[in-house]
Amino acid sequence: MTAPVRPWLLPDLPVVLVSHRGPVSFRRDQTGARTASRGAGGLVTALTGLASSLPDAVWVCAATTNEDVAVAREHGDQAVAVALEPKPRVLDQADPADRPGDQPAYVKLRLVEVEQQAHDDFYTVIANPLLWFLQHGMYGLAHAPRLTRREHIAFEDGYRAVNQRFADAVVEEVTARGGRALVMLHDYHFYLVAQQVRERCPEAVLSFFLHIPWPGPDAWRVLPPAWREQLLNGLLGNDVVAFHTEGFARNFLLCAQELLGLPVDLQAMTVDLGDRQVAAHHYPISIDVAAIRELATSAEVAEHARGLREAFCAGDRQLVLRVDRTDPSKNIVRGFEAFATMLEDHPELLGQVTFLALLQPSRQDVPEYADYLAEIGAVVARINASYVREGHEPIDLRLQEDLPLAVAAYRVCDVLMVNALADGMNLVAKEAVVVNTHDGVLALSEHTGAHQELGAFAVTLPPVRHPAAGRRPVCGPDHGPRAAPGPPRGGRLGGAGKRPR
Ligand code: F6P
Repeated sequence: MTAPVRPWLLPDLPVVLVSHRGPVSFRRDQTGARTASRGAGGLVTALTGLASSLPDAVWVCAATTNEDVAVAREHGDQAVAVALEPKPRVLDQADPADRPGDQPAYVKLRLVEVEQQAHDDFYTVIANPLLWFLQHGMYGLAHAPRLTRREHIAFEDGYRAVNQRFADAVVEEVTARGGRALVMLHDYHFYLVAQQVRERCPEAVLSFFLHIPWPGPDAWRVLPPAWREQLLNGLLGNDVVAFHTEGFARNFLLCAQELLGLPVDLQAMTVDLGDRQVAAHHYPISIDVAAIRELATSAEVAEHARGLREAFCAGDRQLVLRVDRTDPSKNIVRGFEAFATMLEDHPELLGQVTFLALLQPSRQDVPEYADYLAEIGAVVARINASYVREGHEPIDLRLQEDLPLAVAAYRVCDVLMVNALADGMNLVAKEAVVVNTHDGVLALSEHTGAHQELGAFAVTLPPVRHPAAGRRPVCGPDHGPRAAPGPPRGGRLGGAGKRPR
């Protein structure tokens, strides 16, 4: 008889959080002064609240800038207390005014320094693009992926080496807590960590949460058997492996069954390893609803909202919005092309509708991502040149990260477009439905985790569709949301806004 699954959330255990990107990143400005900024991305948004609410927690993350490395070294490569509000900064242990407990929010950061070449191989060759593209179903197998000697070296000297480095840091932090801790590993960067930590810290409780999709066994068969077996066995070092959706959790179990030959129970959602079981759970991640609502009522957001209304929403004019990292999985180019098709089919919308795209350049050291950003620029220039009318360009592309501006745009937009090819969850959709005040429409890809919760309130987008297959625009006075099947326009977001919790 096998041992029961261990309860994974033990209230009396200190927490060791692990993710590649941390909540704060350090740099030097032009004057040479140290600056600290909040880390980007949904994972950081989701975990910062958790980490700052657990006084014993330590967050193990990569030192990704030279200044991160400097901060780590100044503290002897040990954890550093960092205040998060009102602006992030390192707390001075010698200053009584800087006592962590007196801060409104702080985290203990363990910044892990990784040798540059190993980190490049880990991040720009294996994690992104290889695992990311595979898990988002983005390969056309006739041409990619190419697994050459370069990738094999990167897997050994990059992915495996960096996982080893992080496992060492986690073991140190667990040991410093008496060998008993709840280790919470996050994302595809660290599939190999749990197995190593379990061997050296048998009393640790190990959990893993994946923020991106987990596809079925056939997708993983693209990888050499030795790689996929290492990745799966690494994950099975956890007590619990968790995903955004039940479908991803089931896919994981099917991989354990088909690729490792292990017995799985699809009712109990467990894998049987003989001496213990591993549970596959699903927890759809959400946003901090109160915090986003508070930000939405701030003076800064109100000022941005005024500017956006004047620029884009006067009279009958309408605003389509997207807020994304410039990631090929977000399907940004196809989204612009669909918008151009709408303008071509409905010339009466020219000058009436603007597509505001607030895009954050992402992973520019990965060639696929640099190429994609160039493609975005080219397609926007082409569409704007074709459809400019009396000085009005239909697409306003802004490459910047500005949360207050994004929240203001969520508030005033008529349509939020989320047409991702695949997305573990998509927190932009959740943020927008919570703060929109414009009776707006959520146009949401059916391949996002968020679609399971919000799909009933959205116009569902199949992310790849031939233009001739569906020509009803999602905006405009006589068509779109009001004419689309389902609840009336106000009913969609009115209902959806109550869902994220
Ligand atoms: O959830 C996916 C993820 O990789 C997160 O780990 C991260 O917050 C986000 O995307 C941004 O990615 P990166 O840290 O590579 O810029």
